[in-house]
Amino acid sequence: MIPAMRPVIVAGNWKMHTTPHDAGELAVTIARRTHEPDVVRVLCPPYVCLAPVRDALAADPAGQDVGVGAQNVHDHLAGAYTGEVSAPMLRGLATWVIVGHSERRRDAHETDEHINAKVRRALEEGLRVILCVGEQLDEREDGHAETVVDRQIRRDLEGVELSHQRAAEGTWLTVAYEPVWAIGTGRTARGDDAARMAGTIRAALGDLGLPGGGDLTPVLYGGSVTSASIDEFLAEPSIDGALVGGASLKPDEMAGIVARAALTARARREATPPG
Ligand code: PGA
Repeated sequence: MIPAMRPVIVAGNWKMHTTPHDAGELAVTIARRTHEPDVVRVLCPPYVCLAPVRDALAADPAGQDVGVGAQNVHDHLAGAYTGEVSAPMLRGLATWVIVGHSERRRDAHETDEHINAKVRRALEEGLRVILCVGEQLDEREDGHAETVVDRQIRRDLEGVELSHQRAAEGTWLTVAYEPVWAIGTGRTARGDDAARMAGTIRAALGDLGLPGGGDLTPVLYGGSVTSASIDEFLAEPSIDGALVGGASLKPDEMAGIVARAALTARARREATPPG
């Protein structure tokens, strides 16, 4: 089975929380509590906290392998776009970026076309992309969840190019399946629903011609993930970790989530044939 080759990733989306004054300390506390070399850890603070988080992590032995990500990026390199931040501006500050989060689709009216342009730009500029997709509650209740997510993947990634080498590294393009009704609500999807959706996502990635036919692309679950709910998702071989919102601000929660993720990562490593 291919999952043995995919990394296990826990990414924290701090949303509009923390300040430049306190973000670095929180990042280091989390780094120390989640020191698991088998798990890819990423923290995504607000733009203004990127530099303090980067500096605090770099200065602490436990922080040096924690990735730093932005929560958004503009699709143009520069220009008259008041309040926006471009990929070149993130150079040296972030190595990852979240694109297409449902809060940006909702609040900033980001369209799939727009998200597609952002994904391309981010990859071109050397940022690792976490693309978020997910259906609304009414879409799920009407039985359209898979159609909606399939369409998002096709539109957001159409024409996006990923070299085989980047695909094989498994961290350049990650898809986070985040059902909108589960974000910040305390409700989660079921593990088997998330696993089915991971299959839908990978089938669309395969149709788009991404290297490995989607099998090399990590798929995370997101939406009210906590240390108590993570097990259900990581028990599914097709789910490769989590994008964590509210719980990512709590070191105890992150410690529990990453410890569980490490079990999956080690099991996959042991299942991978040598060579
Ligand atoms: P939540 O957020 O864990 O607070 O539900 C997840 C996300 O929006 O990425």
